[in-house]
Amino acid sequence: MDSIIAIDGPAGSGKSTMAKLLAKQLSFHYIDTGAMYRALTLKALREGVDLNNERALSSLAEKTELDIINDAEGNLQVRLDGADVTSSIRTPELTNNVAHVARVGAVREKMKERQREIAKRKRCVFEGRDIGTVVFPDAQYKFYLDADFEERVNRRHKELREAGQEVSHEDISKDLKIRDHKDMSREIAPLKRAEDAIYVDTTNMAIDEVVDKLAGYIK
Ligand code: DC
Repeated sequence: MDSIIAIDGPAGSGKSTMAKLLAKQLSFHYIDTGAMYRALTLKALREGVDLNNERALSSLAEKTELDIINDAEGNLQVRLDGADVTSSIRTPELTNNVAHVARVGAVREKMKERQREIAKRKRCVFEGRDIGTVVFPDAQYKFYLDADFEERVNRRHKELREAGQEVSHEDISKDLKIRDHKDMSREIAPLKRAEDAIYVDTTNMAIDEVVDKLAGYIK
């Protein structure tokens, strides 16, 4: 599996930024698996599906077409049943609801299938929570990115401010704590470091430093 690079880690660890830059440097495709869960959540909300109804979510996943497309600059386009939903999947409402969808076993199975299909056709950097542990346990390169909690809150704050969303530091902190808990404590495919993943603490590292470090492992 030398065509797959797995990057996992909590929200705010820098994994999206690093995965994207690393993919660009290596001419790999960048696959943000969180975006796939977000897109399915968007469809569930639009169709009024009860997010506590696992069977309904599972059948929704069965009949949903999800695509992650990289443009020439390496920017991501997320397509839901053929329509571009890239900007619609980053709203606070989506972020608050996606964990309901991501905890459903049948949904995760479907996503895993789809992600493995993508990997058959392309060399990819996959980024998510369960990539090195569940989706591609045989990936040749596995990284687990992490950062101190306060640093992750600060990064999220900056990111939201740059996107024009004014949210207090305190609210972000609360929200991140809840997300960490949900990601790490769910029954199926919780976020955890694969035993053979390289652990990188990005707290005091510049973006370029992290990318160089990751690239340094890749032969
Ligand atoms: O990385 P993100 O914040 O965009 O992810 C959105 C949600 O999807 C988050 O609740 C974690 C979940 N997720 C997951 O369960 N498994 C993945 N491989 C990627 C994301």
